[in-house]
Amino acid sequence: MPHEHSAPAAPGRAHRDFLNFADVTPAEGLALLELAERMRTGAYAARPLAGKALAMLFMKSSTRTRVSFEVGATQLGGTAHFLSPRDVQLGRGEPIADTARVLSRYVHGIMIRTFAHADVELLAAHADIPVINGLTDLSHPCQLLADLLTMRQHLGAVRGKAVAWIGDGNNMANSWIEAAAHFDFPLRLACPEGYDPDPGFLAAARARGADVRLLRDPREAVEGAEVVTTDVWASMGQEEEHARRSVAFALYQVDAPLMARAAPHAIFLHCLPAHRGEEVAAEVIDGAQSAVWDEAENRLHVQKAIMAVLMGGEPLGAAPAP
Ligand code: CP
Ligand code: NVA
Repeated sequence: MPHEHSAPAAPGRAHRDFLNFADVTPAEGLALLELAERMRTGAYAARPLAGKALAMLFMKSSTRTRVSFEVGATQLGGTAHFLSPRDVQLGRGEPIADTARVLSRYVHGIMIRTFAHADVELLAAHADIPVINGLTDLSHPCQLLADLLTMRQHLGAVRGKAVAWIGDGNNMANSWIEAAAHFDFPLRLACPEGYDPDPGFLAAARARGADVRLLRDPREAVEGAEVVTTDVWASMGQEEEHARRSVAFALYQVDAPLMARAAPHAIFLHCLPAHRGEEVAAEVIDGAQSAVWDEAENRLHVQKAIMAVLMGGEPLGAAPAP
């Protein structure tokens, strides 16, 4: 018997997923941020996950995503169950669709971190419960919500704040592009040739009127930016490309001279884990403008907001502008 969910659902479905920002309206995205802010400030004390369980499928490593979902579920009154490919039959070839059907009989939500985004869509298509994208090769929307919450915390707003992305056009870059359209802020990406973001994400954001520019020169991208952000040169699954990528990305390090071109009050963000001396200089990530530890903490608050809404029936009310 399918579980009942009181979260708002797409027509014909009893539940909602969070695979990308496209799964929420811009107003709902703002409301999620507001709810996460209540989690962050301790104003939210409800336990909407009482008696409920989250299954977490990790086909890649994780520190922040795993621990923040686990602790977050506990704080909301529920439980979270870590499942690795070494231990579950999915890792031995049990079909994703069957895994989705079976987990739907035990738990009230599934968080999955894996390689192909299509696998997450397949899981969601066959699950009777909400599915949350905990990172794919294509996108990392939970991280982006935490980044936006950090912008709100440090800059007072998200809308209109210029963001500079330096480096690989990877899953994080794609989610920044989607967020720029959803939350209405200008985004400049400086990526080496051959490492551009997903063209579909770029086209979709531009079709919605987003102010997103793809550049080659990091200095041009950071000029006047209020947020400077980057990510590893080789993502999970690309380890064998590290040497080649280190050459391609050599001029794409966020160091102090680059930060100096941003706005004086600019913050530095990085989803972590970071490689000091590669995509970021130690003096930046460990310096006064770095907000990366707040950013990591904010994973917990946004995870709780997402679970409270998707699994716990917490309504997404109208929210003021960020
Ligand atoms: N930023 C992030 O997703 O970290 P983990 O890989 O540790 O979960
Ligand atoms: N782009 C990185 C993000 C890690 C959180 C990766 O996919 O490995």
